[in-house]
Amino acid sequence: MRTQVGIVGCGPAGLFLAHLLHRAGIESVILESRSRTEVEGTIRAGVLEHWLVEMMTAMGLGARMLREGHFHTGITLQWNRQRLHLDMEDLTGGRKVTVYAQHEVLKDLIAARLADGGAIHFGVSATAIHAVDTDRPFLTWRADGDGPEQRLDCDYIVGADGFHGPGRQAIPASRRTEYQKVYPFGWLGILARAPLSWPELIYANQGEGFALLSTRSPEIQRMYIQCDPADDITNWPDDRIWAQLEARLSTDDGWVLQRGEIFQKGIIPLRSFVCEPMQHGRLFLAGDAAHIVPPTGAKGLNLAVADAVVLARALEARYRDNRTERLDAYSATCLRRVWKGERFSWSMTTMLHRNPDDSPFEQRIHQAGLDLLRSSRAAATALAENYVGLPFED
Ligand code: DHB
Repeated sequence: MRTQVGIVGCGPAGLFLAHLLHRAGIESVILESRSRTEVEGTIRAGVLEHWLVEMMTAMGLGARMLREGHFHTGITLQWNRQRLHLDMEDLTGGRKVTVYAQHEVLKDLIAARLADGGAIHFGVSATAIHAVDTDRPFLTWRADGDGPEQRLDCDYIVGADGFHGPGRQAIPASRRTEYQKVYPFGWLGILARAPLSWPELIYANQGEGFALLSTRSPEIQRMYIQCDPADDITNWPDDRIWAQLEARLSTDDGWVLQRGEIFQKGIIPLRSFVCEPMQHGRLFLAGDAAHIVPPTGAKGLNLAVADAVVLARALEARYRDNRTERLDAYSATCLRRVWKGERFSWSMTTMLHRNPDDSPFEQRIHQAGLDLLRSSRAAATALAENYVGLPFED
């Protein structure tokens, strides 16, 4: 088998890339180790930046998102039992975010890609990346567990296969540098059948630390609280979760958190990670394969799709005009945006969590960071610009 671009991974980066390449007349094949059901059922964050919503709409991929997504023109921050509304639309000249779960985006993109005749192989195993420092790279894998080995010859290979995939490992260890920070807290996330408690997202740092009130629909709410990353979910009966959410989100003005049946819960660790460079020979990394952000601010999916946009433009210049400058500059172009996303996610995480390793001095500094948002329009604007999504370089 042969294609122009072999893509490992059917997440946001791989799928957007396949769609963008298709629109530029470039062929691709996606290999994915998980089943379609698993890909479409994995619960992740759900905040889409302004440009991404515009791009999905322009690509004809936004119909269900426009019907079912929730448009948020502001966010609420909370500390010391007081709330601060940041009007992002006003602060950014009209930009906003859309709350629409990542797995819903994936469902829409997979259906549209298959309807376009695109090739996605789900449930493959033993995926291996070969010869990326030659001009004839290829992929091998097995279908259905122990089927015969398959081979796909490609012009270019994209590792959009997440933090644990083979993509990053295909760059020799001596040729990459990895930057990492692991936080001493995790997030306990729940989905609950309950009505909306507040018209916008609330990011709180109060009592024992961080809490986030988000939504999925008028009937289903998504909430998170900071917890010990090594804790076991069985230590968190529903009443304990509700009590912590209430302690961290309550105010003095009679506001009530709407409770309901919790039907999904889990604990995730928080880390920041960047691999430099994001390319080697004919291999390009995109999304979590190259960079992880802690979830505060929901930048993971947005950064992954931004990589796909940069790579699609570069591959288009290569195939249409036989120019490789953009491909050569891929890693440097992406990393400038990635590091800004890392900085924002780290600063939101640091400011909004109670870190057991922080000194009282550092705790006061985080408090001052929040207080500054109340008194300085410039500080509020900087947060809002990052939250709705920074502009692209070109
Ligand atoms: C959600 C997740 C986030 O990390 C965030 O910052 C906002 C919302 C969510 O899952 O809804």
